[in-house]
Amino acid sequence: MADTDTFVLALPKGRILREVMPLLRRAGIEPEPAFHDDSARQLRFRTNHADLDIIRVRSFDVATFVAFGAAHLGVAGNDVLMEFDYPEIYTPLDLDIGHCRLSVAEPRELVETDDPATWSHVRVATKYPSLTRRHFARRGVQAECIKLNGAMELAPKMGLCRRIVDLVSSGETLRANGLVEIEPIADITSRLAVNRTAWKTRAREMAGWIERFREVVHAQAA
Ligand code: PRP
Repeated sequence: MADTDTFVLALPKGRILREVMPLLRRAGIEPEPAFHDDSARQLRFRTNHADLDIIRVRSFDVATFVAFGAAHLGVAGNDVLMEFDYPEIYTPLDLDIGHCRLSVAEPRELVETDDPATWSHVRVATKYPSLTRRHFARRGVQAECIKLNGAMELAPKMGLCRRIVDLVSSGETLRANGLVEIEPIADITSRLAVNRTAWKTRAREMAGWIERFREVVHAQAA
């Protein structure tokens, strides 16, 4: 558990952070100025609430910090949450941001002759080996996963494998690399992820923070 009484909110770096910031603002949470300074090396930030700090980490690490109780709550996509499947994480709220999908894709030339219904074994490059194996196992296909940390779309071109499992948003990255989506795996959004122990032992504070986010999300949807 975090070392003080201060609540810790873990936020993901990058693209999702831009969508999280307006939510945070509407929830009345304002990080200290250094948070907005890209050249700052600081990773933990105070907020306008004396009892709430923010840490900024990689999206996969948000889930790890929350699961181990080093952060009490965080923002994580269900792609990351499904990959780790941490029992210590509870997800009370879909934040309705970070919309995209997780899909299987392959080179355009392969599509005409390929029938996914006949697969018994596939080799794929992905950031999500566990999720991918589980997905294919459910339909009786053995998946051999090559773990990459980014730029998956390059793998078929470079002869690493023929197929990838990756996030698709606009579809631009697939198009630019001659790939086509052939099988959707899951719809993705960002969720509020909560450490289960903190949720029980600090129930009143936790409920307060969850409620703040819930009100903002509901007001936005109305
Ligand atoms: C994600 C994802 C795809 C791309 C999809 O990568 O892994 O590469 O976005 O978006 P599009 O359909 O709108 O083109 P991201 O830019 O987050 O970087 P990453 O490769 O480090 O994951």
